[in-house]
Amino acid sequence: MTADHAGNATWRPMAAGDLDAVKAMADRIHLDHPEDMAVFAERLALYPAGCHVAQASGALVGYALSHPWRYGEPPPLNTPLGAIPAGATTFYLHDIALLAEGRGKGLAGRIVAQLASHAEEEGFGNLSLVAVNGSQPFWERCGFRPAMTDALRAKLATYGDDAVLMHREVRRYA
Ligand SMILES: CC(C)(COP(=O)(O)OP(=O)(O)OC[C@H]1O[C@@H](n2cnc3c(N)ncnc32)[C@H](O)[C@@H]1OP(=O)(O)O)[C@@H](O)C(=O)NCCC(=O)NCCS
Repeated sequence: MTADHAGNATWRPMAAGDLDAVKAMADRIHLDHPEDMAVFAERLALYPAGCHVAQASGALVGYALSHPWRYGEPPPLNTPLGAIPAGATTFYLHDIALLAEGRGKGLAGRIVAQLASHAEEEGFGNLSLVAVNGSQPFWERCGFRPAMTDALRAKLATYGDDAVLMHREVRRYA
């Protein structure tokens, strides 16, 4: 098991046995963006290398879900992907979410760096995501920049009014 230490909290790969706890955390954290268990389970099955959980004192305090995708075409929320597309053009961060007790310890920054390294190893040039919950300043701190278009605004309807497509190169130069 690989573990990335932040105080007494660590990231480790997500396992199928974590899915109930991941869904319960998502329901607590993303009150306005509920997703079904099938969505979490499918992402873990399709791309386990992009799925991680944060653990502190034996309890899970957060999770990260990510996978290769087509740049500029973020998948709708609460919808299965079907498959990882051939010729994917971005490494997409579907969600990084921590319970209150897991925040402010550098955990999110650490998993972003870990996922960026993974994406680079897999040959991707960029990372992208849809920022929600007013998280845009956090993502900017991690090197992401807004990349919204009028056409995207309608496509992001499932994410809510404050949703913003953001991207960065896999390597941070700033
Ligand atoms: C956004 C979230 C993942 C950040 O997690 P975190 O572990 O507290 O973040 P970190 O401690 O790793 O912070 C990394 C850096 O970002 C900064 N940061 C964290 N949250 C921030 C925020 N809301 N606004 C601005 N900067 C923020 C930190 O100060 C830190 O900066 P530093 O490198 O100068 O010290 C967490 O608040 C969360 O889970 N929110 C609810 C779920 C959510 O909205 N997820 C994003 C969905 S798109």
